Amino acid sequence: MLSFKKAVVLSLACLTLFFLFKSHHQTSAPTFRNANDLPRPTAWKPESEKQQAAHTPDTDKAFNTPDAARKKPKTQVSLDALQQKPLREQLEYQFPYDIDAKTPAYIWQTWKYTPAQGEFSDTLREAEASWTTHHPSFVHEVITDNVAVHLIRHLYASVPQVLEAYIALPLPVLKADFFRYLILLARGGIYSDIDTSALKSAADWIPHDVPSNSYGMVIGIEADPDRPDWADWYRRRIQFCQWTIQSKPGHPVLVDVVANITLETLKRKKLGTLTKDHTGVIEFTGPAVWTDSIFDYFNNPDYFDMSTSKGNITWQNFTGMTAPKKVGDVIVLPITSFSPGIKTMGAGEDDDPMAFVKHQFEGTWKPESERHIGETYG
Ligand SMILES: *[C@@H]1O[C@H](CO)[C@@H](O)[C@H](O)[C@H]1NC(C)=O
Ligand SMILES: *[C@@H]1O[C@H](CO)[C@@H](O)[C@H](O)[C@H]1NC(C)=O
Ligand SMILES: *[C@@H]1O[C@H](CO)[C@@H](O)[C@H](O)[C@H]1NC(C)=O
Repeated sequence: MLSFKKAVVLSLACLTLFFLFKSHHQTSAPTFRNANDLPRPTAWKPESEKQQAAHTPDTDKAFNTPDAARKKPKTQVSLDALQQKPLREQLEYQFPYDIDAKTPAYIWQTWKYTPAQGEFSDTLREAEASWTTHHPSFVHEVITDNVAVHLIRHLYASVPQVLEAYIALPLPVLKADFFRYLILLARGGIYSDIDTSALKSAADWIPHDVPSNSYGMVIGIEADPDRPDWADWYRRRIQFCQWTIQSKPGHPVLVDVVANITLETLKRKKLGTLTKDHTGVIEFTGPAVWTDSIFDYFNNPDYFDMSTSKGNITWQNFTGMTAPKKVGDVIVLPITSFSPGIKTMGAGEDDDPMAFVKHQFEGTWKPESERHIGETYG
């Protein structure tokens, strides 16, 4: 947790604009083929490291110690004792965030079939191949439903509520949403929907002069509907997309969204209100809750020094943006980056220098209400 000395250098003051686009280097992650080959979940940090995390040097006084560091207990805790703790703390323990670590060179996707199976359609094959072409040194995994449950069982063995929630989710689309946050929290890398194509290498998403230890997450804008009736089209005035996300493992936004969905699911399970109805998906597991977790993070005094900020970070800080912005350790890409060619909301075309990932939407732009139908596995 040495990294938290750096991680705390997150300030509202550092909302920065970038104009340069070159490359940054990423190291390879180990290859594996199935859940049993995966390394064990991250072990407890040695006592010495925990102590250092708990004491931020005075020079960092202007910034707040992140929750994840502050709440670390001073002694080793047994699995039983851990499971008595609030879910967020359990997750922070299991998946410590290290902003100094390299972003793992993983590409995660989910689908009903793997590319090795005949049922994997040719359209998807082309899209899938684009990721490998642009990231030849990355470990690229297309995870099927069956493998996903084993992987979650393995990665979250010590946080049983998460597995219980994953299993309880009654629709494949809910599991697909949940899975992306879970895999990124535990392993990091890039998650991207199976119907996306890489237009550029992730090494070119971020300007080369931005140090890789200054950010831990890269997100894009899904929607910026600058019209009075925006609420007829989208759930949030600015909506961040969750069809493509890059993150280091253990990022606090992922801890929050995983805790939220786990607790919400178990609450609904208990009340008997988990239904196969598609209408609540966007709020429950989709871009609405994802967007809320991101804004909650930006406005969380545990991570950001609010005393130097000029008010809260809101949708207004992201509307109409055409260059990336950095808020603390999160880089927000403009709408063109993950939504080129949608011919609306100010998005540029596929050949725009800022266009990085193409989301197919089966070829045409569709309103959000139809987003999940037919495009996710299940
Ligand atoms: C999850 O987040 C939503 C906001 O997106 C909030 O309304 C809900 O209360 C949260 N649920 C839990 C269990 O924290
Ligand atoms: C700023 O955000 C915090 C946390 O979300 C919230 O409690 C507070 O009310 C907000 N302040 C304003 C002025 O909106
Ligand atoms: C966010 O936008 C508001 C105006 O809407 C501005 O006053 C504030 O400085 C912005 N915050 C940052 C960190 O840029």
